[in-house]
Amino acid sequence: MTHSTETREATRPGTPPHGPVRAGLAETVRFMATHTLPVFVRGVASPRPGVVALYSRVNQPGWSSATLRAMKTRHRGAPVMVRALSGEMLVLFDEEDIARFFAEPMDVLAMDAKDKADSLGVFEPTGVLCSHGRLREDRREVNDRALAAGQPLHPACAEYQGIVEEECRPLTAGTILDFPRLRAAVARIARRVALGDAAAEDEELWSWLMTLLGQANWMGRSRPQANRALYGRVEARLARYAAGAAPHTLVARALSAPSPEGTDPLGQIPHWLLATDVCATAIARTLLLLAAHPAEQAEARAEAVAGTRGLPRLRACVQESVRLYPIVPDLVRVTRAETEWRGVRYPAGTTVLVPIGFHQRDPERVPGGHLFAPARWLAPGADQDTRMAPFSQGAGRCPGDLLGLLLSSLVCAEVLRGNRLTGARPALDTGRPLPGIVDTAGIRLRLGRP
Ligand code: HEM
Repeated sequence: MTHSTETREATRPGTPPHGPVRAGLAETVRFMATHTLPVFVRGVASPRPGVVALYSRVNQPGWSSATLRAMKTRHRGAPVMVRALSGEMLVLFDEEDIARFFAEPMDVLAMDAKDKADSLGVFEPTGVLCSHGRLREDRREVNDRALAAGQPLHPACAEYQGIVEEECRPLTAGTILDFPRLRAAVARIARRVALGDAAAEDEELWSWLMTLLGQANWMGRSRPQANRALYGRVEARLARYAAGAAPHTLVARALSAPSPEGTDPLGQIPHWLLATDVCATAIARTLLLLAAHPAEQAEARAEAVAGTRGLPRLRACVQESVRLYPIVPDLVRVTRAETEWRGVRYPAGTTVLVPIGFHQRDPERVPGGHLFAPARWLAPGADQDTRMAPFSQGAGRCPGDLLGLLLSSLVCAEVLRGNRLTGARPALDTGRPLPGIVDTAGIRLRLGRP
């Protein structure tokens, strides 16, 4: 099956007369050295804090975006075949190509590219992201049901708000809020939301998941047997919580309707727990950005104090923070059918990369791309704009986007309601383009009177 692009493609700039555009040797070495290798060294699944601190000192993302910009300019926006660590990949630069990447169905552009599935398979072997075909559809349905995908306010919003309020109380008791304390509070929120109050203290489950996440950096090639055994303990623990879970929990929602055999609803939970943990990173960066932008902070605080339903301004701040500092900077898919890009055919099995972290900061595409401007997310249709896609778009869009934004904005509101953020570390210079990376583990915020 060939998925042809429109005939006008042949006249688009950068369309090659014959065959694919391939990166030359120097370009390939540069791409590997500044883009692919640094991701591997940092950790594909779990960023290594020491490496992140080093990268932020040397502004590593700046090297990567300089490479991508040079490729985009040199090949006039055409898709470029380039060798990465484990084979070739087609890198997309053009806005129309990227829009199509999001529009293609999963049986053409599938989520479970080999390296990604090998890595995530360590902690979620039956997760939706590692699946394809009918099973993927069934698993996605469980995710959509539990996470209430597409519903602006999760049906269990009131219960989750109560959990966030309780867990955030100790955070704002002192004058300093640092990342380790924030992360610990979000981990408790994650366990209570996903599994129920009985799991609030379960540091052991958490440590198993963190071990597996660290192992995922080796893409399943290190200690496979030990990892499988540890995952077995995770499964057993999840089943225990599922047996007594209250109806508002994600696990109870997942099990609230029958699923076809093989779906494994409980197998979706490790992703939910770890993705909610990632919200701590997004929250810390949002608060850091607000500390550096007093006018935005004042507006966000006013919303928190007013308790505006759905906290739209704070949600926009979190969205802007994940645009600037994406959790998933590279979107990778694999083709399951022959595809055609700019008049060139590529066989099934081609890996396709959209470096969305680069694109959604590109000032040629996103005005003020390196600035913190949360109001851009309040414009109609911003959330569906394929130029900025921190949650991806289309059939592979994050089903937990609205839940993640809900929990993150609620935590930010709890911190801001009675406090003014001052004296944040690391210091951000708002007179210049924002740095491409911040050392999140080192974030420390001073809380003062509003
Ligand atoms: C700031 C928070 C979050 C960000 C920025 C984010 C971003 C993303 C992105 C970009 C993807 C697509 C990955 C890819 O194409 O490889 C994704 C997938 C996914 N996310 Fe999130 N996510 C967040 C929070 C959450 C939360 C809180 C949950 C659940 C509780 C969640 C559940 C999922 C699931 C299940 C998938 C796989 C979807 C599929 O394969 O169809 N995410 N997320």
